[in-house]
Amino acid sequence: MTTSKKSSVAEIRARFDADVERFSRLETGQVATMDAVVCMNLVAEAAAACSPASPRVLDIGCGAGNYSLAFRDRVPEARFTLVDLSRPMLERARERLGGSVEQARQGDIRRLAFDAGRFDVILAAAVLHHLRTPGEWRTLFAAAHRWLRPGGGFWVFDLVDHEHPAVRALMRRRYGEYLEGLGGAAYRDKVFAYIEREDTPRPLGWQLRLLHDTGFASVDVLHANAGFAAFGAIKARSARKRAA
Ligand SMILES: C[S@@+](CC[C@H](N)C(=O)[O-])C[C@H]1O[C@@H](n2cnc3c(N)ncnc32)[C@H](O)[C@@H]1O
Repeated sequence: MTTSKKSSVAEIRARFDADVERFSRLETGQVATMDAVVCMNLVAEAAAACSPASPRVLDIGCGAGNYSLAFRDRVPEARFTLVDLSRPMLERARERLGGSVEQARQGDIRRLAFDAGRFDVILAAAVLHHLRTPGEWRTLFAAAHRWLRPGGGFWVFDLVDHEHPAVRALMRRRYGEYLEGLGGAAYRDKVFAYIEREDTPRPLGWQLRLLHDTGFASVDVLHANAGFAAFGAIKARSARKRAA
């Protein structure tokens, strides 16, 4: 995978700074995403089902707060720490979540530091595909594991790649047909062009293996369709030896 010509962090921030209204509504913000609403609800429900009472939640790449809001619908007493590169996105999320917000931080998910065991739930929706090198993914997954309490859950929805070239081509064709059905060939080409410019997704199997390798005890797929997947991992309740 070539990452050198991909958008920089500053370019990604500028794009999202200008797109707060669209991303404040799941039906319009993620229209290019297959099964966006189904996946958001599945992630929120699974995260809520595995969470203790009064959880502390970290939402990385929170955007305008859609996933935190979906979680709070199920667990009203949850307290949120929000992180996003984009100040306008973060402000919108803070506004929408009101008194449920404990902390809002503008920053890159690669540069975060939190105390070990601080959170019960970590949400990461449509953001991990901005990580570039395998080392960045490993560092982030290991950090998520460290920041969770024993029994805490890391829940992800994202664009995913495929390992076999023929399967990748098949899924690209299916996704292309979906986009064409929404907005015609020009819309399909526009979405494919920004994915090419901006995103570096990794295969689902690769991410699931990395979750195990970074210490997570149970890993479950909630939904996968063409190039999109929702999944989660739980930190063991008692100490478990990490793979080298
Ligand atoms: C597609 S939006 C998804 C927002 C939200 N999670 C949702 O599903 O509605 C991606 C968000 O991730 C943020 N983002 C992208 N790269 C990031 C990074 N390296 N660190 C922090 N936030 C990032 C963007 O600013 C944007 O708000």
